[in-house]
Amino acid sequence: MDIPVAKLEEWMRSYYHAVDHDIGSSGVRDLTVGELAAWCGFDPAELGGMVLHDSESFGGSGLRHALADRWTGGDVAPVMVTHGSSEAIYLVMHLVPAPGDEIVVLDPAYQQLYDIAAGRGCRLTRWRLRPGNGFRPDFGELRELVRGRPRMIVVNFPHNPTGVSITPAEQDELVAIAAECGAWLVWDNAFGEMTYPAAPLALPRDRYERCVCFGTLSKSYGLAGLRVGWCVAPPALLDRMAEMRDYIALYVSPVLEFFAEHAVRNADRIVSAQRRHAARNRRTLLEWAAARPESVRVVPPDGGVSAFVEFPRSPDVRALCRNLAEKRRVLLVPGDCFGEDFGAFARLGFGGTAEELEAGLDALAGALSDEAAAEGKAAS
Ligand SMILES: Cc1ncc(COP(=O)(O)O)c(C=O)c1O
Repeated sequence: MDIPVAKLEEWMRSYYHAVDHDIGSSGVRDLTVGELAAWCGFDPAELGGMVLHDSESFGGSGLRHALADRWTGGDVAPVMVTHGSSEAIYLVMHLVPAPGDEIVVLDPAYQQLYDIAAGRGCRLTRWRLRPGNGFRPDFGELRELVRGRPRMIVVNFPHNPTGVSITPAEQDELVAIAAECGAWLVWDNAFGEMTYPAAPLALPRDRYERCVCFGTLSKSYGLAGLRVGWCVAPPALLDRMAEMRDYIALYVSPVLEFFAEHAVRNADRIVSAQRRHAARNRRTLLEWAAARPESVRVVPPDGGVSAFVEFPRSPDVRALCRNLAEKRRVLLVPGDCFGEDFGAFARLGFGGTAEELEAGLDALAGALSDEAAAEGKAAS
């Protein structure tokens, strides 16, 4: 398998640990163990008595039941605990489509949602989110795209990197389109719990059996370092995923599952606090952008904590992001990490602390002014 480099992760490898301020990540502010314990009402000392034995193939029963209570009406059979949703994506993209199958994917998109399958020889058909249309998905266009009866339709709403989402009626239409052409519907719910002002969408699995849903504690909970995610899918597919994982990681650590179970049992409290904070930061970002209409364009995100910002005056947004990281120690992610047509954009994350966002935006404003001054000099 000739898998392409994961561009976003490559960028993060270079800069995530080499900056002072992060306005590039797609998750909310990360919690300390002490904060998580206080919010959930447990004592970290409970870990002292934990026996470090193997966990279970589909996830420890405490966490699996907590996830089932939150997502599947208490039914554990369709629930599997994974190392981040990344592991679930990797397994599903190896087990559902075969080389030569057609996959319809959003464009732009989180690269793992399409390039694992592409690396295995699947054919990609792009469902474009167009900046001129506020990145709104066009369902008429999707109906045209599925004429070849693809094996899978892969979506992620609220969407990384644009933050755009869909309505419940559009979600019904998506399910109907997948059902009509017999495609698997892959619903990446990474940001599903973090929406403004609309209520979160339900998982589409109750309406269509050929549906796979991914979720994670990395984005809306502030627990990226736990590396815990989940997959909700037909049990027969989960069986095959467990068999494949037997060759890689076997199961998720019981230490991580301990924290994750508390987080999932207290999800409403954690996510609503994070959402209040993110909503304030979202306003800060929109005001900052509105003050610079010539150099910054942003579509207000419906969910998640990232926006896909266009810099119409920047000659090279990748260079702008590199300068920002190397000279001003601020993380921003070049748009070409999400698709080759998006070089004029960058992903701007507003999930950090208010101070972090303000410091990051100040630095970005400085870098944009430097660019404008350099352009002026070159022109005179
Ligand atoms: C849309 C989407 N899905 C899945 C993931 C994987 O996240 P994790 O493995 O931390 O759950 C990411 C990470 O950025 C993402 O943006």
